[in-house]
Amino acid sequence: MWDYAGRDTAIDLGSATVRMHVKGRGVVCREPSLLARSRRTGRILALGAPARLMAGRDPDVKLIRPVREGAPTETDEAEYLMRHLVRTHHGRHYMARPRLVMTVPSGMTSVHYRALQFSAYQAGARRLTLVPTPIAAAVGMGMIEAGPEIAVIADIGAEVTDVGVIAFGGLVTSHTAHVGGASLDRAIAALARREHGVSLSLTAAESAKIAVGAVPPVGRHPVRQAIVEGRDVESGLPRRLVLTTTDVQRAIEGPVAKIVDAVRAGLGGCTPEISGELLSVGVTLTGGSARLPGLERLIRERTGLSAWLGDDTGDAAVIGAADVVRNAAARHPSRDLTPRPHLLTTVPQY
Ligand SMILES: Nc1ncnc2c1ncn2[C@@H]1O[C@H](COP(=O)(O)OP(=O)(O)OP(=O)(O)O)[C@@H](O)[C@H]1O
Ligand SMILES: [Mg+2]
Repeated sequence: MWDYAGRDTAIDLGSATVRMHVKGRGVVCREPSLLARSRRTGRILALGAPARLMAGRDPDVKLIRPVREGAPTETDEAEYLMRHLVRTHHGRHYMARPRLVMTVPSGMTSVHYRALQFSAYQAGARRLTLVPTPIAAAVGMGMIEAGPEIAVIADIGAEVTDVGVIAFGGLVTSHTAHVGGASLDRAIAALARREHGVSLSLTAAESAKIAVGAVPPVGRHPVRQAIVEGRDVESGLPRRLVLTTTDVQRAIEGPVAKIVDAVRAGLGGCTPEISGELLSVGVTLTGGSARLPGLERLIRERTGLSAWLGDDTGDAAVIGAADVVRNAAARHPSRDLTPRPHLLTTVPQY
């Protein structure tokens, strides 16, 4: 019966990557959250990775990022992206109307909440459940117990750092900051322009970050070099630029400090009873930007808590979201995981 209507589906609609999990099939998609639209006709020409390839190559193509800071700011495009993914991954069930679970930043505003609700139902959801990202990630890593044990998750993505302290399967406190990997890319592009007179695309800046990026202090990591291509600001001609680990470290120091501040703010909201316990629990890092070498060490130094990378695939949140709904499907109705409003929100259809 579920197969006909569509298998239970979980979507992590990230600012950089959209991930989808389909019951019984696992994670079926990890695509850039991007669409290419024709300026002339208004038609969508490509989605995901093929859309990225069109960037800057055709003056008629406008690239659209439908998700900003973890929320669907371009609702039509977000809906199109979700509908396309749901249909594609439900094979010939063209009219698939699955039960849909989505991860959301824990500090999402009600305006964005309604936008997401609207997009999800337009995209074909039969029922919609929203799960805060820190909870989904904790479930995905097998860290949530129904009891009083505490878990602390810091999900550091592209545009959002979402920190949640979890107990009894729900959020005790959380903090969402609009900073992440994209802030680092912008800082690298700004340094290239300021100090070398080269204008870099954000994709080039991101590739330098992933190739040689690391958290200061300088000297803890061997100095490496990345070669990136951009445009000379004065002459307008193409130019190659060599960026070293030291350049990148200098560029990203500011935004990295903001990420660490966000983690500190997330921990600061706890009551004294819980605060002490955090010392033995530590912080588990998830999200793509948590992979930046040295970030765990800096968080350890600045918070006094142990910190480690819990998930180096980036899939924990979407896997956890799928799991949460399996639990919510009344198999364990007595477990605390199920009924708490701050854990799960099932949103009515318009
Ligand atoms: N090895 C790496 N080192 C540093 N940063 C990385 C690495 N791998 C990926 N990233 C960064 O991680 C970010 C993407 O992470 P993720 O997929 O968790 O984001 P998202 O879920 O789409 O965004 P958000 O949760 O903020 O809406 C990008 O900014 C990317 O540059
Ligand atoms: Mg994310």
